Amino acid sequence: MTSRRHLAVCPGSYDPVTSGHLDVIGRASALVDEVVVAVLHNPAKAGTFTVEERIGFVERALAARGVEGVRVEAFARRLLVDVCRDLGADVVVKGVRGPADVTYEWPMALMNRHLTGVETLFLPGDPAFEHVSSSLVKEVARWGGDVTGLVPDEVRDALAARVADDR
Ligand code: PNS
Repeated sequence: MTSRRHLAVCPGSYDPVTSGHLDVIGRASALVDEVVVAVLHNPAKAGTFTVEERIGFVERALAARGVEGVRVEAFARRLLVDVCRDLGADVVVKGVRGPADVTYEWPMALMNRHLTGVETLFLPGDPAFEHVSSSLVKEVARWGGDVTGLVPDEVRDALAARVADDR
């Protein structure tokens, strides 16, 4: 047994966080001592939610679920591998909803390992959220569909107000 603390990074845009993201973050936190949810964003591109809003949604949803040992931090204009190195992360954890996600994630995992040796751990997403993505949730909410359960209630309510402007 080693006494070294293990830190995992869960990277993403989180614009906004979904129930699928929260499932993966919670399961990652059960595997390691500490998780950093890295909200990676491009300041030149306006998202649906500000970075501060995205961070707040994740923090409050994790607190409501009683998930501990997770920090949420924003990073811009940086490679994920550099974020991991600065944080002293052992591993990147990504949720995959199915083969299409694996196909998309595979070269990024290999590139990240090529760059610094950081490994990526894929966690199979809960099938209950296989159809859930930030973009699809926004599309459904934009046209008045009910996204209850697919995102935290706070996000559902914020989406209703925000995306109504885009109609
Ligand atoms: O939630 P997303 O949009 O699928 O997240 C993608 C993200 C932010 C994890 C990915 O684009 C990323 O790692 N960006 C940081 C820049 C970087 O390191 N790019 C090279 C990846 S090999």
